[in-house]
This record gives sequence, structure tokens and C-alpha cells, in this order.
Amino acid sequence: MGIRSVVIVGSGVVGTATGVGLAAAGHRVLFCDVSETRMRLLRRRGFATIGSDRLHEAEPDAYLISVPTPTVAGVTDTSFLRDASEAVGRALGNHRGWPVVVVRSTVPPGTTEGVVVPAVEAASGKRAGDGFGVCMNPEFLRAASAESDFTNPRVIVIGAYDGRSEGALRAIYAPWSDVPTVVTTLRTAEATKYVANLFNATKISFFNEMHRVLSAVGVDPCVAAGAASLGAEGLWNPKYGTRGGAAFDGACLPKDAAGFLGFAEAMGLGELMPVLRAVIRVDEEIAAEGIDIPARPSDDDDEEVIV
Ligand SMILES: NC(=O)c1ccc[n+]([C@@H]2O[C@H](COP(=O)([O-])OP(=O)(O)OC[C@H]3O[C@@H](n4cnc5c(N)ncnc54)[C@H](O)[C@@H]3O)[C@@H](O)[C@H]2O)c1
Repeated sequence: MGIRSVVIVGSGVVGTATGVGLAAAGHRVLFCDVSETRMRLLRRRGFATIGSDRLHEAEPDAYLISVPTPTVAGVTDTSFLRDASEAVGRALGNHRGWPVVVVRSTVPPGTTEGVVVPAVEAASGKRAGDGFGVCMNPEFLRAASAESDFTNPRVIVIGAYDGRSEGALRAIYAPWSDVPTVVTTLRTAEATKYVANLFNATKISFFNEMHRVLSAVGVDPCVAAGAASLGAEGLWNPKYGTRGGAAFDGACLPKDAAGFLGFAEAMGLGELMPVLRAVIRVDEEIAAEGIDIPARPSDDDDEEVIV
């Protein structure tokens, strides 16, 4: 599809890694940020920048928004995202083409449709689908290795407003056409990032919980966890337990979960195992009530396509 022009709105960790990776792949990249310090740093690295008040001077194929979405008092603060969307909308009002607006920030399901699309529409006077495209494209990079993680993704997730929006973002990721790509709805793309992060959070808390209890009963937790990990098939085996919808059963998981909790309780350490307790409680509830699970990809090719 050739070279694309892209404006990165919010040029911090994610925005910089994204822009640097897209530029290395041959696309034309303009960095935008409200922080002049940030833009100066990027100019020193040889990249072009544009102030958010001058965004209308660019007519890119895509605006990639990667502004902060902090959690304040337990709620995701989308005000930076709304501000950035309004700035993109104002620029888009004068755009003579059909650019795609891509949300890269981590946001709860429904935010792209509920916050970004209305803000861009109101500021541009154009309608999503008619005047511009919309995608949600979560980022899985780690801050410590941001640029190489962006360049070597394990998966690309494209939540698309419509087929034309999907095509516009696919054109940007054309240099990564050998990377598994999941195309889905905007909401599912938003949720994907939380599944990944919350699984990691659960895993870390689980190993911390085991560490505390095993240390207290004279076991070396690092050797135990290290040996167990060597036997695991990768960090996250997609063939096992990731679909949802069924309690864990079989000969081992229920008895071992309950058995180890009983052991910890007998040692006076039961209070140190809230994660395991919660794991068992969720399993009992699912076993008793079940949950509604959405159709699998193979049942509904429109919802998710893996290529
Ligand atoms: N850091 C990570 O490892 C990581 C990984 C995946 C996803 N994310 C998500 O990506 C988003 C961005 O994270 P980050 O770590 O890059 O944040 P960051 O703080 O490093 O960068 C955000 C940048 O956005 C700029 N900004 C704020 N409002 C703006 C506006 N209206 N217009 C233009 N620029 C604006 C800020 O000045 C800042 O430079 C967040 O939603 C975060 O949760 C972060």
C-alpha cells in the first residue's frame, strides 16, 4: 500500500515508540505533544514535530492518539483523551481526505465510541465513517523496551469502526504483515489490553502470595516457582484456560487449590492467601451458575478474524 503519513498525538513512551517504529518502516511521521520539552527531545533525534495548535497544517493518513489515561479515584480519567480528540477533530475539519483516527491509549470498553468519536465529530463537523475512519489499536509494549517491543510485536489488534477504517490501519501495519493480526470491534480491542494486563497482575500477585507462604514454611520459593515455570508451556498457554466459560475441573486443580489453602490455614497462614481464596471462590461460582460466553471466533467470523 506504500508510504503512509501519520501524526502521533501524545509523544510519550507509547507515542515515541510507535512513531520511531513507523518511521523506521518507511512511513512519514510527525510527532505532536503539548509538552515542548518532549518535542525538543524528538527534534534532537532528527524527527519532525508539530504543535497541537498547528495540527490543521498536516493532512495525514492517520492520527494515532497515545495520551495518558490515569485512574483517578478508581475511575479512568479520559480528559486528556477528550482534549486530544478535540484537537484532532479541529484539524480534521479542514482535511481534504479521509484519515483514520486511531486510539492507542488504554481505555475501558466503550470509550472510543463514547468519548473519542463524539469529540472528533463535534470539533470537525464530520461524521465517523463518512468523513473519517476510527480504530482502536491497543499497545502491548513494555516501557523498559518500548521501541524494540513496538518493532517486534507478538500480535496486532485492530478494533475497527468499519471495513474502510480497518483497511486504513492495515495499510500502516503493512510492513508487519507476517505478525498475527486480530480484527475485531472497537470494544473488544479496548478490552484486550485489560485482559493482558490483569492476567499479568494476577500472576504477579499469585507468585508473591506463594513466595510469602512458602518462605514461612521453610521452602525456597524461587527454586519452587522457577522449577514449576520450566515445566510451563510459555508464559500464557492459549490452549489452556483462557477462553472463559467453564470452571476448572479435572483430577488436580480443584483438589490442589483447596488442599494447599487447607495446608496454609493449618499452618496459620491462610490470611496470606487472598488470591488463592478468590480463585477458589470464582471457580465455585462458575461451577454453580456458569457464565454466558460470547461466540467463539470460528462461530462468528465477523467478530474476530485471526490471520
Ligand atoms: N508506558 C507503557 O508501557 C504503556 C504500554 C501500553 C499502553 N500504555 C498506555 O498508553 C497511553 C500513553 O501512555 P504513555 O506511557 O506513553 O504516557 P506518557 O505520559 O509517557 O506520554 C503521554 C504524552 O501525551 C502528552 N499529552 C497529554 N495530553 C496531550 C494532548 N492533548 N495532545 C498531545 N499530547 C498530549 C503528554 O505531554 C505526554 O508526553 C496510556 O493510556 C497508557 O496506559 C502505556
